[in-house]
Amino acid sequence: MNTIVQEEYGSTGMKQQCVVVTQHGGPNVLQVVEEDLPEPGAGEVRVKVLAAGVSAYDLMFRRSGTLPGTPRVPFTLGEDIVGVVDKLGEEVSTIEPGQMVAGATWAIGVGGGYTEFICLPASELVPVPPDVDPAEAVCVVVNYLTAHMAMHRTANVQSGERILVQGAAGGTGTALLELGKLAGLEMYGTASKHNHELVSSLGATPIDYRNEDFVKRIRSLTGDGVDVVFDPVGGARQLWRSYRVLRKDGRLVWFGVAATKKGGLLVIPLTLLTVFLLKLIPDGKQVPLAPDLSEDKAWYRETLTELLDLLAAGKIKPVVAERIPLFEAARAHELLERGGYAGKVVLVTDA
Ligand SMILES: NC(=O)c1ccc[n+]([C@@H]2O[C@H](COP(=O)([O-])OP(=O)(O)OC[C@H]3O[C@@H](n4cnc5c(N)ncnc54)[C@H](OP(=O)(O)O)[C@@H]3O)[C@@H](O)[C@H]2O)c1
Repeated sequence: MNTIVQEEYGSTGMKQQCVVVTQHGGPNVLQVVEEDLPEPGAGEVRVKVLAAGVSAYDLMFRRSGTLPGTPRVPFTLGEDIVGVVDKLGEEVSTIEPGQMVAGATWAIGVGGGYTEFICLPASELVPVPPDVDPAEAVCVVVNYLTAHMAMHRTANVQSGERILVQGAAGGTGTALLELGKLAGLEMYGTASKHNHELVSSLGATPIDYRNEDFVKRIRSLTGDGVDVVFDPVGGARQLWRSYRVLRKDGRLVWFGVAATKKGGLLVIPLTLLTVFLLKLIPDGKQVPLAPDLSEDKAWYRETLTELLDLLAAGKIKPVVAERIPLFEAARAHELLERGGYAGKVVLVTDA
């Protein structure tokens, strides 16, 4: 079977289709184009993509060319993939053709996952256990790694601690709740009302951030606040309020700017300034910053393997918001723009 895959796609002159950002703008700038099938270089593996994650990060790079690190158009988005190894480059001995693998695409820039085939360094890819759903596995890559890093390295949570997860029904929020339950935490989560059943089912007490003041609600529910707040929303007012619900010696872990959806890119410098100012307050509370996920390769491989094993064992079950065919990526971006979903939106190639 492995040989057949290589023969079918391995010859030069073959074409593939991928989704590119043709210019910065709305979802309709995502266009399907045909290009040469990429050939893996030394140390690389070519993967036939089965599932690619869609993220808030993708939306920011699609919308604007002003963010640091934005490549020139045309470029392809997609920071995580799951697929089947299709061809090995030279010097690769750790992976076999036909193996299902998962990984992040950071090594090649802002992304590249919205495609039929992708070449990635073998060092970025981790085997996926048999019988795992590729759409669920792809949720694990960036969202669960982020949640794991935030929870176990940045906040260093201890069993029995009390946490508030902002954006609890989102891709990272649901990951934090699943890992928080395994860690034995007492959990609260902000979400729109229609997502409260999901938040409860993941083990947290839901708070309707749109219609109630979460600071007051946390105080009335807990008395003295929480040990850790995980905040992927950002913005000056939001972060200040997240800080206020911390107990003495509590930790605020900020790791995202979902507020840019409404507030635009100005939210980013305001968020950074607020984090800087909060860190200066000498009241015992901490605002630790998460290290870059791609910095520590040994941690990345070990933790991704651990998370995929938890998935295979049924101990976590990522929330897939919707499975959308790869070539309808524009529709996936419309869904992210509109909101109202829960979990992670995934592009699939087998639809
Ligand atoms: N640092 C990293 O490594 C890293 C990794 C992954 C993600 N991120 C960042 O984290 C952010 C969230 O990512 P995601 O994938 O979880 O996004 P997502 O799936 O779109 O979820 C965002 C959630 O935020 C909620 N939300 C929006 N405004 C809110 C507010 N004012 N208060 C409370 N909740 C609010 C929404 O809740 P409702 O729909 O319930 O209203 C939504 O569920 C993004 O900025 C992303 O770039 C960073």
